[in-house]
Amino acid sequence: MRNRLISVLSCLAACAAGQTFQRLGGCPDLGCVFPPDQVDFLAGQYFDIRLEVHSPVNGSEARVGEPDPNFTFTITKKGGSPIAAADFFQVDEPKLERWNFTWYEDLFAKDLEKPSLVNVTAKAYRRVALYEPGEYEATLTYYGSQKTVANWLVRDLPTKRRAKNVLLFIGDGMTTNMITAARLMAHRSINGKYMTKMALDKFPVLGHQMTHSMDSFITDSANSATALYTGHKTTVNALNVYVDSSKDPFDDPKFEIITEIFRRRFPLSGVGIVTTAFLADATPAGLTAHTSKRSKFDHVIDAFYEGGVSTHNWTGWDGPDVVLGTGAENFLKTKDAPHDYYPLFTEKGYSLAWNNTAMQNAPTDEKLLGVFQTDNLAVWLDRNVYKDNLLNQSNYPDGSARDAVDLPGLKEMTLKAIDVLQERHDDEGWFLMSEAASIDKQMHSLDYDRALGELLELDDTVRATIEKLESLGQLEDTLILVTADHGHGFDVTGSVDTKYLNAQHDDREKRRAVGYYRESGLSQYTVGGPNSLQYSDGVHFPARWDPRYALHSGVGAFPDHRENYQVHSDGPRSPAAGINGQKNDYYANYKDAVTGFLVNGTLPVDASQGVHSLTDVPVFAQGPCQELFGGVYNSIDIFFGMAECLGLSETKAPSGASGSSGACAAGQVKDKDGQ
Ligand SMILES: *[C@@H]1O[C@H](CO)[C@@H](O)[C@H](O)[C@H]1NC(C)=O
Ligand SMILES: *[C@@H]1O[C@H](CO)[C@@H](O)[C@H](O)[C@H]1NC(C)=O
Ligand SMILES: *[C@@H]1O[C@H](CO)[C@@H](O)[C@H](O)[C@H]1NC(C)=O
Ligand SMILES: *[C@@H]1O[C@H](CO)[C@@H](O)[C@H](O)[C@H]1NC(C)=O
Ligand SMILES: *[C@@H]1O[C@H](CO)[C@@H](O)[C@H](O)[C@H]1NC(C)=O
Ligand SMILES: *[C@@H]1O[C@H](CO)[C@@H](O)[C@H](O)[C@H]1NC(C)=O
Ligand SMILES: *[C@@H]1O[C@H](CO)[C@@H](O)[C@H](O)[C@H]1NC(C)=O
Ligand SMILES: *[C@@H]1O[C@H](CO)[C@@H](O)[C@H](O)[C@H]1NC(C)=O
Ligand SMILES: [Zn+2]
Repeated sequence: MRNRLISVLSCLAACAAGQTFQRLGGCPDLGCVFPPDQVDFLAGQYFDIRLEVHSPVNGSEARVGEPDPNFTFTITKKGGSPIAAADFFQVDEPKLERWNFTWYEDLFAKDLEKPSLVNVTAKAYRRVALYEPGEYEATLTYYGSQKTVANWLVRDLPTKRRAKNVLLFIGDGMTTNMITAARLMAHRSINGKYMTKMALDKFPVLGHQMTHSMDSFITDSANSATALYTGHKTTVNALNVYVDSSKDPFDDPKFEIITEIFRRRFPLSGVGIVTTAFLADATPAGLTAHTSKRSKFDHVIDAFYEGGVSTHNWTGWDGPDVVLGTGAENFLKTKDAPHDYYPLFTEKGYSLAWNNTAMQNAPTDEKLLGVFQTDNLAVWLDRNVYKDNLLNQSNYPDGSARDAVDLPGLKEMTLKAIDVLQERHDDEGWFLMSEAASIDKQMHSLDYDRALGELLELDDTVRATIEKLESLGQLEDTLILVTADHGHGFDVTGSVDTKYLNAQHDDREKRRAVGYYRESGLSQYTVGGPNSLQYSDGVHFPARWDPRYALHSGVGAFPDHRENYQVHSDGPRSPAAGINGQKNDYYANYKDAVTGFLVNGTLPVDASQGVHSLTDVPVFAQGPCQELFGGVYNSIDIFFGMAECLGLSETKAPSGASGSSGACAAGQVKDKDGQ
């Protein structure tokens, strides 16, 4: 605690971290230690250490002289004395690296194009681990007597494994408000009482998690996925690394992912990845990739089929058993993708499916790659209600210009993944992540109908999955979590008489169509109509998507756009557009929601979409260890809960990697610097 106070005080004196721009996130002064202060580790989790000493050449922090090449770094286990890190971890002292970088101190400096220049000395200790639970102090000493201290905690968790399987559903961007709205659209109520429940409503344990990232209170899906999968928060756009100041997106300090730890500790276990996003997107990528730039899509696909062997080789694991999603553009040889990846996967024993029929027919005893179209998967609403929107897309995953029309949904993909994992890994169990990605993607484009359709598809998937696990005899042994990685500021405030709105000609008159409080009335989505989808037993989607009295929905921050509150039956929405296609200067798209009224934006004019928001997000849990997930906690606690339940905490160094102080280089391979 005392150390924490000191570092807060020194930061107040010495730096302006946490503003619009930062010299380096997580670095409190001119010395930087990654993993940074206040980080928790799973016992035995592999990680890299990055140290940097900064010498700002100009700008408000300018100092005279080179960055210190003679800095020292010690580790102190609580109650012990400081030990030089190379001795503590029993590794060679790494070589000194030098580089420089620039950053803008604020928007004025950016307008003037006057970045501040920083010279850097740095070192990296690769692939070490802490085994003995407890508190550690990592101290960087530089410029003589200046110190940056990182307080680290190795959590003291039970080591006994309690769950055979873990199934993590992620509703990307999903909030409680969205669940409430989806329920209103798909479940009939009488006099304020629902006749049916959502699958999520039936979970025995509900918690909620804080999604902040390490150096910004709003997260993106890369660093929130990192927190959920590794227990480490990082910086926006980073996957499973802390972001150092060097330009190389692959030399940043890595830390081990739950999939890597699980496969290392239980080599006969299995891993599955299912998503409705393009597969190189952050939430699926977070299960295998290590990079400071989530946009390094070829690295992500590499990591799927190699398990990261070539880029870090912490475990030698050979990648997931099942990978199902879309984004064929990253698998075909193009200017961005150096390889034709499909044959590489088939050489490694994956069977390959390019459509739903092929996926259903794929053998369950072989590894399976399913890539069903280019881009993100067409959403549930277009696949099931407005099917014409699937035509003329030229998006078949083989690169021919055909249309992909035989598409699976989240449910079909998830159930198939379970078949494969269960067939191949009934002994040591499996870990499956299944992502409803387009809740987020459609919230971004203010297309609330499409977003809530995705949420209802997730709910239906959870329902069908629970039934499937029950029939396989696996339900009791499977921890099921349903959570989100962050939210959007969405809510519903009433209803809109769309017939009245469409008939008015003046923007201020159109707004009279909004009914709030008593005039909100009741949900009209559960009453059949022209596009009526009948309820079947236990399956709940709206009976119609175009009622006269539609939901008055919105988000808290948006670009200029028009709003008419009516389902976009012609396809996904583009609320804002640049004049003459210009980027970075967006106005309301006059072709969108034409019968609606203009809403002036609150975001900077370079935003064409909505953005993520601050809200905590829900966590639903059932199965072994469900009690770990009740209450209010941090996103990283989801990782620690899953790791505890799988018995992944390793509180003693394995033989062959001995360490007198319960710490050591993990395994015997010493990685090269700068990999
Ligand atoms: C910054 O580093 C470069 C290269 O290491 C060196 O040439 C330069 O003199 C340094 N600048 C200052 C102001 O220290
Ligand atoms: C670093 O240490 C070396 C060897 O002790 C010494 O020659 C050099 O002057 C030191 N450099 C700085 C900047 O302190
Ligand atoms: C920054 O580093 C690069 C490459 O290491 C070097 O070429 C360049 O001179 C440095 N810039 C300054 C201003 O020191
Ligand atoms: C700092 O130095 C760099 C390189 O000389 C220059 O481009 C930049 O404008 C300077 N920034 C400030 C704030 O003086
Ligand atoms: C990765 O590790 C495995 C197992 O230790 C080893 O067989 C393999 O050669 C290593 N690969 C690389 C690229 O270092
Ligand atoms: C589905 O994939 C199989 C195997 O590649 C192919 O034979 C079949 O024609 C495909 N079906 C459609 C509708 O594209
Ligand atoms: C698809 O394109 C064809 C030919 O360009 C056109 O006739 C047809 O109407 C289009 N269909 C849809 C659903 O847009
Ligand atoms: C939107 O903002 C513009 C100025 O940027 C203003 O002229 C206009 O009246 C505003 N419209 C509404 C509906 O608030
Ligand atoms: Zn998003």
